[in-house]
Amino acid sequence: MSLDLVIRGGTVATAEKTFQADVGIEGDKVAALGPALSGKRTIDASGKLVLPGGVDSHCHIEQLSSMGVMTADDFYSATVSAAYGGTTTVIPFCAQHRNDDLRKVLADYHERARTKAVIDYGFHLIIANPDEPTLREHLPEAIRSGVRSFKIFMTYERTRLTDEQILDVMAAARKHGALVMVHAENHGMISWLAGRMVNQGNTLPRYHAICHTRGSEAEAIQRVVALAELVDCPILIVHVSTVEGIEAIRQARGRGLKVLGETCPQYLFLTAKDIDIGIEGALFCCSPPPRDAAAQEACWRGLKDGTLHVYSSDHAPYGRDGKLPKGEKTSFKEMANGVPGLELRLPLLYTYGVGTQRITLPEFVNLTATRHAQTYGLFPRKGSLAVGSDADIAIWDPQKTLVVEQTHDGTGYTPYKGRKLTGWPITVLSRGAVIVEDGRLTAARGRGRFIARESSDALRPLGRDVPEMAQLKAWQTPLQL
Ligand code: URP
Ligand code: ZN
Ligand code: ZN
Repeated sequence: MSLDLVIRGGTVATAEKTFQADVGIEGDKVAALGPALSGKRTIDASGKLVLPGGVDSHCHIEQLSSMGVMTADDFYSATVSAAYGGTTTVIPFCAQHRNDDLRKVLADYHERARTKAVIDYGFHLIIANPDEPTLREHLPEAIRSGVRSFKIFMTYERTRLTDEQILDVMAAARKHGALVMVHAENHGMISWLAGRMVNQGNTLPRYHAICHTRGSEAEAIQRVVALAELVDCPILIVHVSTVEGIEAIRQARGRGLKVLGETCPQYLFLTAKDIDIGIEGALFCCSPPPRDAAAQEACWRGLKDGTLHVYSSDHAPYGRDGKLPKGEKTSFKEMANGVPGLELRLPLLYTYGVGTQRITLPEFVNLTATRHAQTYGLFPRKGSLAVGSDADIAIWDPQKTLVVEQTHDGTGYTPYKGRKLTGWPITVLSRGAVIVEDGRLTAARGRGRFIARESSDALRPLGRDVPEMAQLKAWQTPLQL
């Protein structure tokens, strides 16, 4: 068979194994894996790694934040940056704010991405207004259109939900087959501390890390696990950062509950010390904040033992304008939350994980691509290098060393500046087309496509009741969730 394109002589890695094979591409799909393939065109990958393109299931693109600040990236700059870092699929958020009509929000984000994205994308929703039309009509409609996950917030004044609202959203997710992603931090603990800090003149970014206490993460995780258990709804706790939070997830999983966890580069590679540099510390502030060496260790352990299921960027890009408190904006409470990470997510984990043998190459593929695709209903089309999968492929040079200077996103800075990273993607393909070649972007603006997502095992409820629900059934008392 003569294929359109053959990637020849590389070491292929999947989430299961590493092996020598040529990769044959026909149109936009992987068509063959094996020795001595021939094709109309060839890419020489000898001495290189051939990996499925990364799937980043947590990033904020062209989105108004919970505090009302627009990200520094649009769908073009963010997806270009992702492509340079070996990521070929993103799942950003369509953010509903209070009073927003969810149907309109979703249509807006489709329009923003359609003309700009250079790689494929799905969407999650952020639900901040779980009113009747949202729960009864707009959510089910969005789910049917392939938007099968939504994020809810337990903190941030403008987006947080009450426990009752969280239960409403969970019941709808369970009924219609969607995954609930949770930003778990106790709002009262944080705002009580932050109010006192600012009143007493402690306004620098360092106090952000103090106010977002470890206990606030653990308390919120424990509470939301109890809520999810009541209605038997699978959940995924995003950006987990603490020893205590990871332990809460481990315990929930130990009890057989479907509680998944996610961590991000900032919790493996930064600490609160990075924030403690005066006003510029704002550039390292995100919520939850980076912690300490013990928390970093716990995140590595969590990724290794599966308590933390996926490693995403939580790319939340703001330039210095949004980040640095100024004028009447004088305290850490007013700065935009979040750090950029789309582009360096994979090179960081490769260097500090695979390069130090902390994780294996298949674990790297699993944590950066395959698990995301499986969890969010994109597998095996995405996150996989197998016959029939989309030919979304990153060819890596495991020896290439670069000192990080600047990334391609719109923020104008990176928290990882000066890091010496070894192992970089050099050629990246999306649906069979080369989109990055030897450091040069070759992708046309707007070539990326929306991918409707399927149901997945992660979404299926356990089918098990808490004692109170079982009691109602025994009394033959129907309770409509
Ligand atoms: O600080 C962060 N993580 N900002 C982005 C929004 C969020 O909470 O994920
Ligand atoms: Zn969040
Ligand atoms: Zn986020």
